[in-house]
Parts: sequence; structure tokens; C-alpha cells
Amino acid sequence: MENKRYGHFDDQHREYVITDPRTPWPWINYLGNEDFFSLISNTAGGYSFYKDAKFRRITRYRYNNVPMDNGGRYFYVKDGDTVWNPGWKPMKTPLDFYECRHGMGYTRITGRKNGVEASVLFFVPLKTWAEVQKLTLTNQSEEVKTLKLFSFEEWCLWNAATDMENFQRNFSTGEVEIEGSTIYHKTEYRERRNHYAFYHVNTEIQGFDTDRETFVGLYNEFSNPDAVMEGRPRNSHAHGWSPIASHYIEVTLQPGESKDYVFLLGYVENPQEEKFVAPQVINKQRAHAIIEKLDTTEKVDMAFAQLQDYWDRLLDIYNVRTGNDKLDRMVNIWNQYQCMVTFNFSRSASFFESGVGRGMGFRDSNQDLVGFVHQIPPRARERIIDIASTQFPDGGCYHQYQPLTKRGNNDIGGGFNDDPCWLIFGTVAYIKETGDFSILDEMVPFDNQPGSEVTLFEHLKVSMNHVINNLGPHLLPLIGRADWNDCLNLNCFSWDPNESFQTTENKSEGTKAESLMIAGLFVVTGKEYVALCQKLSENSGKSGLYSKEAERMQAAIDAMIAAVKKDGWDGEWYLRAYDYFGRKIGSNECEEAKIFIESQGWCTMAEIGAEEGMVGKALDSCKKYLECEHGMVLNNPAFTKYVYEYGEISSYPEGYKENAGIFCHNNPWVIIGECIAGRGNDAWSHYAKILPSYVEEKYQTLHKVEPYVNCQMVAGKDAAKPGEGKNSWLTGTAAWMWLTVSQYILGIKPQYDGLQIDPCLPETAKDYTIQRRFRDAEYTITIHPNGSQKGVKQVVVDGQPIEGNTIPYSAGKHTVEVTM
Ligand code: GLC
Ligand code: GLC
Repeated sequence: MENKRYGHFDDQHREYVITDPRTPWPWINYLGNEDFFSLISNTAGGYSFYKDAKFRRITRYRYNNVPMDNGGRYFYVKDGDTVWNPGWKPMKTPLDFYECRHGMGYTRITGRKNGVEASVLFFVPLKTWAEVQKLTLTNQSEEVKTLKLFSFEEWCLWNAATDMENFQRNFSTGEVEIEGSTIYHKTEYRERRNHYAFYHVNTEIQGFDTDRETFVGLYNEFSNPDAVMEGRPRNSHAHGWSPIASHYIEVTLQPGESKDYVFLLGYVENPQEEKFVAPQVINKQRAHAIIEKLDTTEKVDMAFAQLQDYWDRLLDIYNVRTGNDKLDRMVNIWNQYQCMVTFNFSRSASFFESGVGRGMGFRDSNQDLVGFVHQIPPRARERIIDIASTQFPDGGCYHQYQPLTKRGNNDIGGGFNDDPCWLIFGTVAYIKETGDFSILDEMVPFDNQPGSEVTLFEHLKVSMNHVINNLGPHLLPLIGRADWNDCLNLNCFSWDPNESFQTTENKSEGTKAESLMIAGLFVVTGKEYVALCQKLSENSGKSGLYSKEAERMQAAIDAMIAAVKKDGWDGEWYLRAYDYFGRKIGSNECEEAKIFIESQGWCTMAEIGAEEGMVGKALDSCKKYLECEHGMVLNNPAFTKYVYEYGEISSYPEGYKENAGIFCHNNPWVIIGECIAGRGNDAWSHYAKILPSYVEEKYQTLHKVEPYVNCQMVAGKDAAKPGEGKNSWLTGTAAWMWLTVSQYILGIKPQYDGLQIDPCLPETAKDYTIQRRFRDAEYTITIHPNGSQKGVKQVVVDGQPIEGNTIPYSAGKHTVEVTM
């Protein structure tokens, strides 16, 4: 295992190339950018859905299965007695060649066996409700090849949750229709659903199957389906049980000949009045229209070129050349790509998130937005309004909402007291990127109630007020159900394994537990709020109003800073919290978990007590107690027993998840703290430890998960297997890594009036150049660090030295030289 490699980066094509299908964990990619989405593993496993992974699941997936990663879009090639799949699975026939290229919104899987190559390009074209699977079969041998080709998909009965449990119903409801080379899935269409799915191929077929049991055989598996093994489709018509879609195509290829087949997995919605064309016969007009757009190789190639063009443009917005490939590929390609994915999915659908549990998180989405806002600002704008619409009039928020309905999720409710602050965090990032202050005048409801609309600015105000109105005995913010750390449940007190830690409040009345993390977050976002008010007073002439508001909030910030200095400092680091009984958490006095990362991150970013040396000491303590080979752990030492006053955090074994795992999301907080403090060497060494390309070797065996993206958690130093990564893709780490490197390390910060240049680098940094599109301007910025970690000496814009380090915004192309 030691030096085994499963793949490598191909920067020129912006791809990760997997060369061995037996990766230590399925290494996946995401297809689709807006409405229609697919997850695809390196063996073509995964599933598709429309907008919502729970309510509109199109194909079925089996979680946590044996073997792993079961279910997907499979092509079976039967060549004489040999049957194989281009992605190796599910047949697992040894291939002569295998390669999977995960790129920006597409995946190409190629397999070769006995002189035949099958290469499948999977992607979701822009603005299209369908996944394209372009299969190219090539005869590389000297003889004529006669092949039997079977496609395979399995339909999910729409609601991914009930699909897994309500079998007394499910086994009777399945319905399909077959028309030419298209198989339609129309379960529940006869009643309240107005949507169906289809699976099409652009050639005549010689047979099909739509009933799983008939195709596979009751005692067989995907790795030896009856129909395929016998080379004989059954033309089965599913009624109930488990509907599938499989095309059967006979293919003859001359030596050297190549043929393309375009398979389309599509989704359609019909207006109520247009659902049927005859009793029980669905209206297929919209499906035909999608098919018509993509029924030739030329049309598909064009759609693919458009997708590539789209990504070229997105990735052109911020582009760096440092000469360090490992850094450049993360900044220019993978980190930004992961930010788009987390923006789209929040924490809903990955190979660790089932897509049935969580919708969009309030805090999560606001953070994800910051990694994405430079790419497509109008979508970030829309998201801000959606999120704010789930807020309550007192500033509290639903913790999650469902993307399909955009309604707050009642099961989890609210009461996570950090949530409100994140709305300021997200909104300010949007305005700084775009200069669009008009968003603040948008009328936005509370809890989606018509008639309750106030301006978005008002929402920001009640957000801040929510913190101020919920202070505890030390004048620090009350934590509520939890702050950013969902597992620090200080008002829960649960001995009942059937209770949810996060929604149980046994002593909700008079709760006293307080959070230093929210204190720091409040100061950071409060300063942003004050600056925004000042800016608004400059802009609007209503200066009195906004400057009063700025003063009011500044006073609250000052009070918070004083409270942290008085009751939030432990001598070498910031405390983490006070529990319900007023006892310290994250203190040297504690038996376990003496220090936590979150409050170090936020209070250093807020520079609380910088003059008194607190910031430097706290950052040093992170290095001393939290840092290890793989990054910084969340707390130290780990809890070794369950503490019922603390909740879920102590439920995890040592070194995992919130109990002293390396929860990558919060590492950048400390790194930004280091950057603000000007400690470039330390910032860089923390950053490189969790930068995927820097630890790629480790990923291949120890980390296990995809080497091209960050994962949520790497097992910490107290774990049984330190260094193992889990929960890849959907993590706030993506946005925070982006913010850290783009704004704090490389140092290009959007501000209301322009781009501020303020890098914080390791002494060894060489000259580098950044291309930055910003509103209607395009800057080429070259930075000469001269061995300095921080501090800009001079900024020259288009040959003219400027005052200070903020390039005043003006449209057009500009060249900037920066000396440190
Ligand atoms: C998960 C949640 C996020 C939370 C974090 C720490 O990533 O999505 O909201 O802040 O865990 O508990
Ligand atoms: C669990 C996880 C935490 C996550 C939360 C979301 O508590 O440990 O990481 O944020 O579930 O509901």
C-alpha cells in the first residue's frame, strides 16, 4: 500500500485522473450547476435528482452497501463470453486499461478490453434538465467485433426517504411507458405528481427491460444480471416492484471503426392541464424537445464546449501564477470548483450526506456564499434573499430550509444563536464584490409570511440585535441550542439515546450557557455592520440615521470586547464557553478539553486584546496544543467520557468529528487570525497542512477520500487512526480555504470602493501575479514580497503610485505593481 498511487492532477485540462478503479473510497464528482444534478463516482456509481435530493430523486442509490458504491449508470459490453463495464464496476472484469477523468462539471470514464474501447462522457449541459452520457465504442482490434450493449439505470420513486422505507406501498406503485428508444418513468404521475423522468438513446434499440427482477434475476446481482449474461433482453414491462431502464443495442464495428451513442437521462414537469394526451398516456412533448436538442454527436459536442467555456469564464475571475503548481492548481481550479459545489448543495447530497436528512443550512449557506460570490453574484444575491426569508422577526432563524420549497425546516427549528450573525457575513461579502447596495432595500419577509416584509437592511439589524438581546450572566452571548459547533449542546442534558442532542432543551427556561465563539463572531461581523452603516450614511445623505446606528453598534461591540477581556480569557488562550451552571469550558482548570479552536479563531480574527498580547498568546497556544501533523484539532485533550452537561461533542470517540478531530472548517479561522497578526510563516504552515494538493500522497492511502477537495474532518492526533479523512466535498472548509488564500494569504480583498492589497506570506514567497476581474474591471496585479511576511510599501496602478493599499475601483483594464 505504501507508495500506491491511484491518480494524479492534470492541470492543463483541469482534471484529476484516476488510473486505478480500486480507490480507497469512491472518488466522486458533481454534474450540473443549477437544477438538474448528478453525483458520479470513478466507477460510474451515484445518482441524479432535480433540485432537491430528497423530494425529486430520479435514480436510486444504496447507501453503505456491500460492496461500497452500489447503483449507478452502468453500461455492460458483452463481447463473446466476456462481459465488462468501462468503469470496471459492477462486473469487475479486469480491464486492459482504465481511466476516470473528473473535470469541471463532467466526468469521462474509459475502459478497454480485448481490443474494444468504451469511453463515456457524462455531463449535464447548461440550462438542461438532463444528464448526457455520450458513449463512444471503438474497435481497436484487427477483426470485426459484434458486441451486445446493455445500458442500465434504476428509478427511485421520487421521495428518496420513503423510497427506502415504505415498501408496502412502493412495491405496487411503479409505472413505466416505452416509446421507441425511450423509457419513461411515471410512478405516481397519475395522481399528484406532474413530473416524470426518461432514459433515451439516439439509436434504434433491439430490446429493453424495465422490470428489475426480470433483468437481474431474483438471486443475481448487478455484477451478473440474467439478461446481460445470456445476452438476451426480456422486453419486460414493469408494474409495481422496482422499475428500471435498460436499452439493448447490437453493435457491429469494423477494425478501427468508432460509434457514438448519446444516452439521455432527463426530467420533465408538465402543467396540470397538459399531463396526458390520452387516458394513462403521458404527454411527452417536453421530453421530445430535450431529446431533439441533444440527439446527435455534434449537438452534444457543442453543448459540452459551452459547458467548458462557462467554466473557463468562471475560473478566469481569479487566477494566480505563483510558479508553485500545488498552490496554483488549488487556487485556480479545485478550491473554486468545490466552492461552487458547496454553494449548490450545502450539506445535502454527497457520499457521506444521504440527501434525505438536511436541506440548506442557514449558517452553512451564508458561509458557502463567500466562496462563490465572485463567480456568479446574481445567484448569491438570490440566495441571500432566500436565506433571510427564513428568519424570524426577533432575528432568530430556522437552522435549515428545504431548497424545493424554500421553507424553514420545522423539525430542527431555530435557536442556534450564531446563525443571525452569518447573514451579515454573507451580505457584506456580496456588496463588497458587486458594489450593489440595492440589495439592502429588497423587501424580505420573516418566516416566508406574506405581509411581514421589511428591508434586508432591517434583517441585518435584527440579526445584530438578536445577539445583543440574548446576553448571559457574563454579558457574553447565550449559546442557545449550539453555536457553530452543532455538538456543544449546553442546555440539553440528555441521558436518552432516542433524543436528538440538537433539538432537546431540558432547561430552556433561564438558560445561562454562553459562547466565546459567538462573542468573537459578533465582534467581527459587528465591525462589518458598523462599516456598512458608515458607508450607507456617506452614500445616502440620511447620514444621521445610519451614523446613529453605527454608534449604537460600536458601543455594543466595545462592551463585548470588554466582556471577553474580563471573563473570556484563560491566561494563555480564550475560553470556549460557560456552561449552564456558569462553569468554564475550555480552560486550563478543566479536566479534559482545556482548549478549543473556535474561540481562538474568532477572537483572534476580532483582534480582541491584541494590545495586551492576547492574540499572539492564543495563536501560540494553537500551535502548542492543537496542531499536529495533519492540521489543528478542534479541542485538546479529547473527551474520553460522555459529559452530559456538554452534549454531543463528548459522544464521539477521541479524535473524531467535533471531539478533537481536525474539523478542517475551523482551521482557516486561526490561519486568518495569523494573517491579521502578520505571522505569514505560521499562517502558511497551517494552511499547507490541510491543502489537498500538499498532502496528495497521504490522500492516496491514509486520507482515503478525494485528493482534489477538502473533507470536513481528518481524524485527529487522539484518534485510533489519525490522518484518515471523512466527509469529503460538502464542507464549509471550501469557502474558508478560499477566503483564506484569496484574500488573506495572496491578499486581494474586495472592499466597497475597490480592491485592497494586503498579503500575508511566508518569507520564502516569490513574486506572483494575480488576474482579478472585479465588477467591470480587470486587474493584473504583480506582487513583490521581497522576503517580507506582511506590509505593503507601495502600490502602483497603471504606472501611478497611489495612497494606501486600496486600488480605487474604475472600470477597464489595469496593471498593478505591489512592493512589500
Ligand atoms: C457541520 C454543519 C455545520 C456545523 C459543523 C460543526 O459541518 O454543517 O453547520 O457548523 O458541522 O458542528
Ligand atoms: C452532527 C455532526 C455535526 C453536524 C450535525 C448536523 O451533530 O457531528 O458535524 O453539523 O450533526 O446536524
